[in-house]
Amino acid sequence: MTNDIHVDHLYFRYHEQAPYVLHDISLTVKQGEWLTILGHNGSGKSTLARFFNALHVPKEGKVISCGIDTKHANEWVNIRRQVAMVFQNPDNQIVAPTVEDDVAFGLENAGIPYEEMHERVYRSIERLGLRGLETQEPHRLSGGQKQRVALAGALALRPKVIVLDEATSMLDPTGRIEVLSMVEKLRKEENITIITITHDVTEAMLADRIIVLHEGSMAYEGTPDEILSDENALRKVGLRAPFIVQMANELKRQQVPLPNGVLSHEELVTSLCKLKPIT
Ligand SMILES: Nc1ncnc2c1ncn2[C@@H]1O[C@H](COP(=O)(O)OP(=O)(O)O)[C@@H](O)[C@H]1O
Ligand SMILES: [Mg+2]
Repeated sequence: MTNDIHVDHLYFRYHEQAPYVLHDISLTVKQGEWLTILGHNGSGKSTLARFFNALHVPKEGKVISCGIDTKHANEWVNIRRQVAMVFQNPDNQIVAPTVEDDVAFGLENAGIPYEEMHERVYRSIERLGLRGLETQEPHRLSGGQKQRVALAGALALRPKVIVLDEATSMLDPTGRIEVLSMVEKLRKEENITIITITHDVTEAMLADRIIVLHEGSMAYEGTPDEILSDENALRKVGLRAPFIVQMANELKRQQVPLPNGVLSHEELVTSLCKLKPIT
């Protein structure tokens, strides 16, 4: 069975008379890939994400998640177990009085036997670096720790795909790095497909591939190098290139011979250091 997600000519509107908020979306997310869906507020990202795990089901078009057509209502529970979601506000996702109970919550609902549940909860807590916090109240944790608890709860369900819908946007920079590095680890070590949804161009750098949504349509698709270095293209969809990209482009306009695709501080510094000194 394939663990890919396929979206085929998907159109969607919230009500019969309302305008379409998704227009002819077709995409595939491959197993083990990190895809970012990037777009400004209201571009349709969250709406699209809800199709991946059958929270929305197509009337026009088709969505196949992990080999299952999401139109089959008897498969929704199964699909939601395989495609886990982590949302923006960590406080809204806390359901239990302790970290370990919170991580176990989804497993209890899924009727997993106690022994196995115990093992899965402790393994997930370990994987997300939460050892020592098992009996803490989730509300007392930092934002980054809370989102790691949410990720641990998702991981315990042994999903094929984790979708993070703006899951770092309420965190401070430390919390953001904390969560994103865990996401990278899960992808590498567990081969879990990652879909991050964001309006943050800096966060989009981390993905293998970016799809840019604009007014419910797919505006661009490509690697972070291709998408984020094109300031004009980003401007057309209401986004600004990352600061480093703007700076590198400005240096190039000033005849500094930098290579294409400079996205990070490190790349910029390394490229500048490689230049011959002006004599
Ligand atoms: N429950 C809803 N009912 C009606 N319209 C909605 C609902 N949720 C979102 N929308 C509309 O759909 C469009 C896309 O919203 P959304 O998917 O939340 O975008 P994003 O996640 O990119 O900010 C917006 O115009 C928004 O107002
Ligand atoms: Mg959203």
